[in-house]
Amino acid sequence: MLYFIGIGLADERDISLRGLEVIEKCKKVYLESYTSKLQCDVKALEKLYDKKVVLADRKLVEREADTILDDAVDSDVAFLVIGDSMGATTHTDLMLRAREKKIKFEVIFNASVLNAVGIVGLELYKYGKTTSIPFPTKSYKPETAYDVIKMNSSMGLHTLVLLDVKPPKFMTVNQGISELLKIEDKRKEKVFNEDTLVVGCARLGAKDFVIKSGSVQDIVDLDFGKPLHCLIVVGKLHFMEEDALKMWK
Ligand SMILES: C[S@@+](CC[C@H](N)C(=O)[O-])C[C@H]1O[C@@H](n2cnc3c(N)ncnc32)[C@H](O)[C@@H]1O
Repeated sequence: MLYFIGIGLADERDISLRGLEVIEKCKKVYLESYTSKLQCDVKALEKLYDKKVVLADRKLVEREADTILDDAVDSDVAFLVIGDSMGATTHTDLMLRAREKKIKFEVIFNASVLNAVGIVGLELYKYGKTTSIPFPTKSYKPETAYDVIKMNSSMGLHTLVLLDVKPPKFMTVNQGISELLKIEDKRKEKVFNEDTLVVGCARLGAKDFVIKSGSVQDIVDLDFGKPLHCLIVVGKLHFMEEDALKMWK
C-alpha cells in the first residue's frame, strides 16, 4: 500500500494524527524533497516518527519511481509531501503509476500553500490560475507568469505566484517582483509596474510568518527573511478584502 501523506507547512508537528498513525506501520518512509521546504530539519521528523526518512529527489520520484512503487507492492510505504500531497502534478503522476501497477494507495490531506494564503484575506474563490516564476538562465527566460497575471487581472482575479525552489536556492519575493518588472520593461503592456498592488508572504504556517501588502514599490525592497516565499498580485477588491489587506500594510 502506498500512502501519500501531506505533512503540512511548517515543522514536524503539522502532520495529522491519521498521518502519524499510518507512518507507524510503514516499512519505508520517503520525503519528497524538491518541490518545497520544511521549517525544520529532517532529523526532527525522524525523531518524531522513530523511523529513518529517505529523501526522494526529483530523479527518484520522476525517473526512478519504480523504486518507490516496488517497495509498496507487498509492504506499506509512506510518501511524505510538504504541505498537501496533491498540490503538485508530479505527485499525481506517481498516483497514476501506482494505479497502473495495481498498487493500492491512499491520500492523507493537510494544509497547502494553496489554501494557507487564505490568511491574507483575499477570497480564495477569486483567484485565477496559479503561476510560478522559475530562476531565469541565459537561455531560458519564460514570461508565463506575466501572461497569467495579465489574464487573471483582466478578469479582476487575484494571482498566486509561486517562486522557484532549487535547493539550496529559493526565490525571494524581491527576486520574483524584479523578474516581473524586467518583463514589463520589455513588453510595456502595463500588467505589472511599480503601482501594482501585491502581497508578499513568507513561511506561511510557521510562527515567524511574514505578510506585507502594498504597491510594488512599497514591497520590492523589504526583507522577508528565510524561505519559503510567495507573491500575490491583487485583482479587483471587495471592501472586506480591502479591510483585510490593511492588516498587512
Ligand atoms: C510546489 S509549491 C508547494 C506545494 C506544496 N505541496 C503545498 O501543498 O504547499 C512550492 C512553492 O509554494 C510556495 N510556498 C510553499 N510553502 C510556502 C509557505 N509556507 N510560505 C510561503 N510560500 C510557500 C513557494 O513559492 C514554493 O516555491
